[in-house]
Amino acid sequence: MGLFFPRSYCTPGLCQYLAMLPPASHLLSLLLVLGTGGTVPSPWVPPQGCYVAEEAGERTFRCSQAGLSAVPTGIPNDTRKLYLDANRLASVPAGAFQHLPVLEELDLSHNALVHLSGAAFQGLAGSLRHLDLSANQLASVPVEAFVGLKIQVNLSANPWRCDCALQEVLRQVRLAPDTGTGIVCGPGARPDLVGQEFLPLAGEEELCGTGRGGAQRSTDVALLVTMGGWLVLVVAYLAHYVWQNRDETRRPLKPAPVLPVRSEDSSTLSTVV
Ligand SMILES: *[C@@H]1O[C@H](CO)[C@@H](O)[C@H](O)[C@H]1NC(C)=O
Ligand SMILES: *[C@@H]1O[C@H](CO)[C@@H](O)[C@H](O)[C@H]1NC(C)=O
Repeated sequence: MGLFFPRSYCTPGLCQYLAMLPPASHLLSLLLVLGTGGTVPSPWVPPQGCYVAEEAGERTFRCSQAGLSAVPTGIPNDTRKLYLDANRLASVPAGAFQHLPVLEELDLSHNALVHLSGAAFQGLAGSLRHLDLSANQLASVPVEAFVGLKIQVNLSANPWRCDCALQEVLRQVRLAPDTGTGIVCGPGARPDLVGQEFLPLAGEEELCGTGRGGAQRSTDVALLVTMGGWLVLVVAYLAHYVWQNRDETRRPLKPAPVLPVRSEDSSTLSTVV
C-alpha cells in the first residue's frame, strides 16, 4: 500500500506530472496555508456570483442566480436589502438571518423552498418590511415564522395546501399589493380546492376547526379536557389514599405473612382487597 513511487518506476505521464509540481519554496508556502486550516486572516470574499452594492444609500447584498443551495455566510451585518432569488435553496433554517439586525428587504423568490423553520426570521422583528417567498415549492409555512413581524409578503406561485396554517399566516401578515390572486391551492390541498384561488375561499370558510372561531373553541375544549383529566386523577388519588388508610387501621401492625390465596378462603380475600 505504498504511495511512494521511486523515479525508476514512474510512467511517462506521472514523471511529467512530478516535473510540473511547483518549486519547493512555493510548495512550502502552500503547505503552510493548508496546515493552518485557512485561518490566515484574509478579507472576506463574497461567494461567487454575489456582490455588495450601495443602492440608494442602502447597503445591498445581491446573490441572484448564484447557484446557491444554502444561505451564504459572512453577509455584512449592515445589509438592508438581501437578494437570494433564483437559487437552489430548499429550506430556511432557524436564525438564518439573525446576524442582520437592519435587514429590511429579503428576496427568496424563485428557489426550491419546501420548508421554512418556525424561527427562520428570528431577530428580524424590528427591521424586516418586505419578504418575497414567491415561486417556490411551499405547501405550508409555520405561522410562528411570522409572529411579531410587520411585513408585506409575496406568497404567489407556490403549491399551497390551503389549510388552517395558511389561513393563520394570512391573519398575521399583509400581502404585497396585487399578489393575492397568485395564492393558488396546489395538489396537496383538499380535492375541491386544488387549482382554486385561496383568498376568496379563506374569506368565507373557517379552516381552523368548525364554524367561526373554531380554532379558539378547539383550544378551549382541549384545555377543559386536560383540566377534567387532572381532576379525575386527583379524585382517584384521594379515594385511593382514604381507602388505603382505612385498610391500614384494620391490618395488624406487623405485616401479615403473605398467604397463598385459595379459592375457598374467600373471607381472607375480601379483607385483603
Ligand atoms: C456590525 O458588527 C460590528 C463589529 O462586530 C459592530 O461594531 C457594528 O455595530 C455592527 N453593525 C450593526 C449594524 O449591527
Ligand atoms: C410577487 O411574485 C410574483 C411571482 O414571483 C411576481 O411576478 C410579482 O411581481 C411579485 N409581486 C410583488 C409585488 O412583489
